[in-house]
Amino acid sequence: MKRIKILVIDDDESLRRVLEYNLAQEGYAVLTAGSGEQGLELLRKEGADVVVTDVRMPGMDGLQVMEAIRKHDPNTQVIILTAFGTIEMAVEAMKAGAFHYISKPFNRDELKLTIKKALQLRELEKENVALRQALQTKGSLDRIIAESGRMREIVDMIKRVAPTETTVLILGESGTGKELVARAIHNYSPRAKGAFVPVNCAAIPEHLLESELFGHVKGAFTGAIRDRVGKFEAADGGTIFLDEIGEMRQDLQVKILRVLEERIVERVGDNRQIPVDVRVLAATNKDLTKAIQAGEFREDLYYRLNVVPLCIPPLRERREDVRPLIQHFLRSLGAPPRLTISPDAFRALENYPWPGNVRELENALERALIFQRGDAIGLADLPDTIRSPRAREATTLPVELPAAGLSLEGVEKELILRALEKHEWNQSRAARYLGITRHTLLYRMEKHGIARPGRAGAAGEEEKGEPGEQEPTGSG
Ligand SMILES: Nc1ncnc2c1ncn2[C@@H]1O[C@H](COP(=O)(O)OP(=O)(O)OP(=O)(O)O)[C@@H](O)[C@H]1O
Ligand SMILES: [Mg+2]
Repeated sequence: MKRIKILVIDDDESLRRVLEYNLAQEGYAVLTAGSGEQGLELLRKEGADVVVTDVRMPGMDGLQVMEAIRKHDPNTQVIILTAFGTIEMAVEAMKAGAFHYISKPFNRDELKLTIKKALQLRELEKENVALRQALQTKGSLDRIIAESGRMREIVDMIKRVAPTETTVLILGESGTGKELVARAIHNYSPRAKGAFVPVNCAAIPEHLLESELFGHVKGAFTGAIRDRVGKFEAADGGTIFLDEIGEMRQDLQVKILRVLEERIVERVGDNRQIPVDVRVLAATNKDLTKAIQAGEFREDLYYRLNVVPLCIPPLRERREDVRPLIQHFLRSLGAPPRLTISPDAFRALENYPWPGNVRELENALERALIFQRGDAIGLADLPDTIRSPRAREATTLPVELPAAGLSLEGVEKELILRALEKHEWNQSRAARYLGITRHTLLYRMEKHGIARPGRAGAAGEEEKGEPGEQEPTGSG
């Protein structure tokens, strides 16, 4: 293996010697320079993984050195050596991008540890760069179909948050692909080699959820016959995905908040604190702000989770995705390559509002593949609700349609009559209820011969409008 190279820059020769000696003992290859200029020259020629530089030096100071290094190779880690009186400069250095410093006088362990941390960070940053490059060249994330502008934005966001440690809250209706997105974030993160542990907070009985998440010790409650590791511990080094978090009980919300803040869990029945290294992703199809107002969801937890919100739009708001999704699912469901979809079936699929989103589309295609005979999926192979637009209207029409058929004129007459009765024959209110002007109502009452029982005149009888009411004149 290539030896790790460390460059030491300090104008103090004895300090240079001490550092050189100590670092060589740790097995590092060490280069030294007596000034910033000389150091940079050496760095350009020989390269280094880590640079340890003094702040105050004649000529270039440590900050300038650092700046130059960041331009030369942002991957090279810089450790700033601070002495009493140079703390302010160290703070400046931190702000300018150095993450490490050693204060003089330092001991050997401190030096060892700081170098190790710097090297770890370097590895991580390198991995991130590699990941980001892989993502960029790929264009889209595998398996996530994103043709529409809004889904492409989601994919962009995934690429940007994946390499970080940030908590992400994934929002979207049922079946929009929340879990798929969570997995993508994990797979493109430096934790990809670790576990991805999904927990469906709505599917686990409330009284078991705590032990599911945090584990328990033997005897903690009836039925706890042996120690059990919780999902948080199982996700150590990886990612936990708290699905349907909006359904979680308040006392557990407090505990989740604590894990997010302290990265520590306690098993049920045990007060030992177990550190966990997990990234948290959460999802819900609930409007959490409403849940907060209703007192069902903790506001503090919401803000902790909502660091980066990812809102996946419903399929009906991104119809451009339907066609590529169909192609994607036909392939992944193992449809014969020659199989096509008849134009009318295709139109039905494209026009359907997909209340169950992508999952419903996937299920519909799976079903169609079972029913289909021949070379094409036809309209008849689709579920009733998708096939017949009339059945679809039934979902928004507040009345049942009789199988025997009906007369539109008859229905209109009946509706007007009922609306008038409902409003004690107040024409203005009945008209408003029906979403038409009073003028139109009168016209239609006349057409259908509707009159208030016990009154002589039919439509158009005098009625005082409501106070201050202005009747717009519309046509019937
Ligand atoms: N953009 C997409 N590209 C490819 N497949 C998708 C896409 N969105 C969703 N799917 C697929 O649709 C199905 C449902 O997705 P997923 O389970 O992630 O949804 P969800 O939002 O978690 O749903 P629920 O709220 O019901 O749990 C999965 O099989 C998933 O692979
Ligand atoms: Mg889900």
